Amino acid sequence: MDHPVLVLDFGSQFTQLIARRVRELGTFSQILPFSTPVSKIKALEPAALILSGGPQSVYGRSAPRLRPAVLDLGLPTLGICYGMQMTAHLLGGRVIPSASREYGHTMLAVGGRHPLFEGTPRRQKVWMSHGDKVGKLPPGFKALAASASTPLAAFADDRRRIYGVQFHPEVHHTDYGTTILKNFLRLARAGENWSLSSYREHLIEEIRLRAGKSRVIAGLSGGVDSTVAATLVAEAIGKNLTCIFVDTGLLRKNEADEVMGFFRKYHLTLRRVNAGPEYFERLRGVRSPDVKRKRIGKLFIDVFEREARRLGGADYLVQGTLYPDVIESAPVYGPSSTIKLHHNVGGLPKRMKLKIIEPLRELFKDEVRRLGTELGIPHTIIGRHPFPGPGLAVRILGDVTPAKVRVLQEADAIFLEELRAAGLYDEISQAFAVLLPVKSVGVMGDEKTYENTCVLRAVVTTDFMTADFARIPHEVLGRAAARIVNEVKGINRVAYDVTTKPPATIEWE
Ligand code: XMP
Repeated sequence: MDHPVLVLDFGSQFTQLIARRVRELGTFSQILPFSTPVSKIKALEPAALILSGGPQSVYGRSAPRLRPAVLDLGLPTLGICYGMQMTAHLLGGRVIPSASREYGHTMLAVGGRHPLFEGTPRRQKVWMSHGDKVGKLPPGFKALAASASTPLAAFADDRRRIYGVQFHPEVHHTDYGTTILKNFLRLARAGENWSLSSYREHLIEEIRLRAGKSRVIAGLSGGVDSTVAATLVAEAIGKNLTCIFVDTGLLRKNEADEVMGFFRKYHLTLRRVNAGPEYFERLRGVRSPDVKRKRIGKLFIDVFEREARRLGGADYLVQGTLYPDVIESAPVYGPSSTIKLHHNVGGLPKRMKLKIIEPLRELFKDEVRRLGTELGIPHTIIGRHPFPGPGLAVRILGDVTPAKVRVLQEADAIFLEELRAAGLYDEISQAFAVLLPVKSVGVMGDEKTYENTCVLRAVVTTDFMTADFARIPHEVLGRAAARIVNEVKGINRVAYDVTTKPPATIEWE
């Protein structure tokens, strides 16, 4: 992808959004740490730079600093929030603390006509979140816009094509944010070089060149990411790819058969490994969520290794790693780097000597879904809710047994069935049932019952890092609860989880 727009990350929670917006506007965009050496930036021949926001003050002792030489590269540059302040700081302006932190919606008044604000009104709603602001313009800059408490809310040096905005154009709450970003791309003369179909061709070519003559294996879970990754590799190298589906015994009801059925039609070489008994053996008596995760991760690797040996060895392993995983596990500055570490279900043992192919590592989830659709993968797979690697084991609190898994599978299937019947499945990002080892008293017919509790969880989210509970109509919840208690032996009470993330997580363990 030639001449990308590089987003230099100073630790903002919105950095990924910036990259997404730029791609949505048709230009390839990549995120790099703020400390990326100038030589590397230059070698990528970027069309433009965007400096992200960040939680620090430019005067802070541990503040992430841009290498001043970056601003001498002659590249069109847009500084956002902290990025604007860093620009001012390095080019001879002054950054000062705001009297109070400005957070949320603010009215912005645009001073005169400027191409950065073309197609936007003189007064417009923007979204801000900052403690510092630019107090004095650097030489060569002029002010473009102001808010009540931030007189220098946007600036420009037209000669050098360096711009700054104190607000966040990348968030939806900024009414004309996309227009402003588009204007910046036009000022930068960034080409429209990004479309999924051209990227698909590029990926296939790259995989062919790299691994065309090698033996490649892929773990296939039936989830969106691994399916798209494997399908893409299959399209590139055909029979040299062997997919491995591990039935851990901890999957949703009928999931293993459904996944196998789908892929059989799909002409992929696919091996099913029934490892359920081994998983239950390793989980026997284990109650701690962390120990469960570790043991499951370790066994997954053991199974994989065994399968690779059975095939007489393999050179490459396909993984469905996505861009957010790459960014979140890379040592980029900022808190966003540590949140999701537990989601990488174990690494691979060194002695496997497998090289990794991660064809989706530059894509966001919605891009993966669109790519999957282009590859002809049906909506039943593309639209599936995510399912965690450790499976139902992290949804059965306390020890995990085959009997408990069966109970939970039934309850979960009923909940999903009712959501589908009500036309709600696609609106909800993730929904599932959880089994609690908590018994309570009930009455069925003339008999007293003393059984376990099932919790239903359904969330709405765009990135799974924050989430709200889904506002499911009471009638739908009522129907699901009634069916679960009536049809699933072992559950006599159903509750609905109404916590957001944070402070709760989506999964219960
Ligand atoms: P939490 O519970 O952290 O989950 O709010 C966020 C999202 O990640 C999924 N998740 C996992 N996915 N392996 C995975 O592949 C894991 O170990 C794992 N743990 C959580 C979870 O289902 C939700 O979509």
